[in-house]
Amino acid sequence: MRILRHLLVLLMHLVLGSGAQRFSNGYYYQDIINGNGNDNGEIYFQKIRLHVESPETLVSAVQGSNVTLPCHYRYEPVLSEPRRTRVKWFWQPVSDEGRERDVMVAIGTRHRSYGDFKGRVRLRRSAPGDASLFINPLQSDDTGRYRCEIIDGLEDESVTVHLKFRGVVFPYHSPRGRYLMNFHEAKEACEKQDAHLATFEQLYAAWEEGLDWCNAGWLMDGTAQYPVVVPREACGGTDLAPGVRSYGVRDKSLDRFDAFCFTSSIRGEVYFLQHPIKLNFTEAAEVCQNEGGRIAKVGQLYAAWRFVGLDQCDAGWLADGSVRYPIIQPRMNCGTSEPGVRSFGFPPKHLKHGVYCYKVHW
Ligand SMILES: *[C@@H]1O[C@H](CO)[C@@H](O)[C@H](O)[C@H]1NC(C)=O
Ligand SMILES: *[C@@H]1O[C@H](CO)[C@@H](O)[C@H](O)[C@H]1NC(C)=O
Repeated sequence: MRILRHLLVLLMHLVLGSGAQRFSNGYYYQDIINGNGNDNGEIYFQKIRLHVESPETLVSAVQGSNVTLPCHYRYEPVLSEPRRTRVKWFWQPVSDEGRERDVMVAIGTRHRSYGDFKGRVRLRRSAPGDASLFINPLQSDDTGRYRCEIIDGLEDESVTVHLKFRGVVFPYHSPRGRYLMNFHEAKEACEKQDAHLATFEQLYAAWEEGLDWCNAGWLMDGTAQYPVVVPREACGGTDLAPGVRSYGVRDKSLDRFDAFCFTSSIRGEVYFLQHPIKLNFTEAAEVCQNEGGRIAKVGQLYAAWRFVGLDQCDAGWLADGSVRYPIIQPRMNCGTSEPGVRSFGFPPKHLKHGVYCYKVHW
């Protein structure tokens, strides 16, 4: 009886195997189900289609927080019995066009993560077929292309999800004045403020969100550009349409501009220090240290304004010797009518102001 059944299966493989429908995308296949596992000897054929999809193929997140990269799979028609499905996630960093690296693999409730992802990733599994990847916390080089692969027996299907950092772009100039930094100095200036030179894509996104700035700044690609929302005489004239205006690729050593910096990190906390008296710059740096923190950097203040909603109508010293304050809700006597980080430039260091401190809690 048993032998007979095996022969029958083999025969059907031979008969139907060659004629089995295979669509060019490779995701139809023939599957043999043995009477739902009972032993009544019935054999039937079913065409099962494995679908893998992601409702969001571009995900942006803030460094230091967590993120879920969505991936779902389902069978068509719906199966009455769960199948043994393997989920595998791969990652290809932005900087590396080369090979994919393993992130994690999961079969049933067992899973294993690799390399830098060890201990930081798990599958969400909020419903059957949910293979979404949860990463916590996000580290500085986690961006890139992720691929969710579902493997069922011989078949596999996958979907790709891109992860980028949501950040904030801010213009920066040297404490000594405008248009004084060559490319290398601009790059270093951003890094000193806990940020990086912005890419064109980041500046463009910031322009779309309303960044209007009349001074050209270096970008990562070695160009100098500036974003204009409202064309005006004082800012390149009214003949040109709104947009990001470019001076093109410039000489990295000889040409001098300001910088556009990009930051995406909420690792620590930025706060205005409640202190009974105002402080000069030296004192300001000291009191933050006495608090167990440090005087905040410009990038940290921008990130706190943008991602944590820091709103404080008090001017405070920052690490670079500038004095600024962050406003979410514009109001009387608190700068202009738009939300933003207001700057008083770089006042003489003996003048007395408040201070913004920065503390990392973990
Ligand atoms: C993930 O981040 C969100 C805020 O972005 C937070 O509310 C949530 O608690 C975090 N989840 C975990 C598990 O840390
Ligand atoms: C700030 O004040 C202290 C005295 O409290 C003084 O020693 C220091 O030199 C002052 N710093 C500056 C930059 O004026």
